Amino acid sequence: MKRRLPVKIVLFVVIAAVVFLWFGRETGRALNNGLALTPPMGWNSWNKFGCKIDETIVKQIAEAMVASGMRDAGYQYVVIDDCWQLDRDAKGNIIPDAKAFPSGIQALADTIHSKGLKFGIYSDAGTKTCQGRPGSWGYEFQDARQYAEWGVDYLKYDWCNNGKQNSEAAYSRMREALALCGRPIVFSICEWGSTKPWTWARDIGNLWRTTGDISDIWQARDKRRELGVVDILDLQVGLESAAGPGHWNDPDMLEVGNGGMTPTEYEAHFSLWCLLASPLMAGNDLRSMPPDIARILTNTEVIRVDQDPLGRQGRKVRDDGDLEVWAKEMADGSRAVILLNRGATEAGVAAAWTEIGYPAGLEAKVRDLWKHKDMGKFKGQYAAAVPPHGGVMVRVTP
Ligand code: GLA
Repeated sequence: MKRRLPVKIVLFVVIAAVVFLWFGRETGRALNNGLALTPPMGWNSWNKFGCKIDETIVKQIAEAMVASGMRDAGYQYVVIDDCWQLDRDAKGNIIPDAKAFPSGIQALADTIHSKGLKFGIYSDAGTKTCQGRPGSWGYEFQDARQYAEWGVDYLKYDWCNNGKQNSEAAYSRMREALALCGRPIVFSICEWGSTKPWTWARDIGNLWRTTGDISDIWQARDKRRELGVVDILDLQVGLESAAGPGHWNDPDMLEVGNGGMTPTEYEAHFSLWCLLASPLMAGNDLRSMPPDIARILTNTEVIRVDQDPLGRQGRKVRDDGDLEVWAKEMADGSRAVILLNRGATEAGVAAAWTEIGYPAGLEAKVRDLWKHKDMGKFKGQYAAAVPPHGGVMVRVTP
């Protein structure tokens, strides 16, 4: 009899430890939701539609995503940004705008899922969203449960009206809520780089914005007022080591096809975002996408650079003022390279092998990812004429 007690105690301690570790795993540090092992791809309503969004548009976009070949090219998430929500009821449940979404959010999620796509939604870590709709501060767990019930697969979480909270604490709260809501949900942190999320968000979110909002322009006249493609590009330098499978720097959504830039500029915008291993959230009206825009967004050779399983973010390896060279290490040992011309006149740009991590004497195959053409074998470097506000993107394989 005397021996029984210790056995019970030992058993109790073991079970308690197992229970503690099992539940504790959700509140541990590393965000290990198994999602976004390559940068998430999809579409978001904000850049084109702003607040003027409704269920008809979202459904038509989802249809167009399939019909245009976007889904087959890898785009997956259809995300409604700000303005789908109106109020909270007496119990604190979030109420969608019934005029814009009369069938309800769950029905919309079902429709999107039925097309083989995933569904995303938007909220804010403060009291109100950037457009003044109800935020999730104080309602994190209730909202996360609601999202899971509706079938949400992706949450973009903004930073307006944050009441000077500590950003890491605020985003951690929603991270915990999502971890416990019973559904895998990609967590997209949108605090605009204001508190350097690349230094703290890797264990909290799957992606985090690194800058303010993108505008549909190549370069801003005044960067304090707006940011163009190359302005945002400059702000990515030095952030590379924070990115990897499951946790990405997010230089904001794509403007490709929204009308403010030339096809050459859009091609460079897309090339650069793929080289940066950025999330690829299209932001144009897919229902009326002209072929030259579809050609850019569905270039699978370029998308493959973005989606490379090694998950390295490319970096700037040379800066000659308007002429730059960017390179990304790929899982197969090859390099994706962009020869970039930010200037207003055509110019020759060369990438030296030594700059992209190869010995000078190496002979390597070069393939142009926009011409879809093998350019031959080259020793020491590859040089090409690059159009103004444009890029030449190649893959260099030893
Ligand atoms: C912020 C975000 C944008 C968009 C709007 C919506 O500006 O950075 O991406 O979500 O809010 O109001």
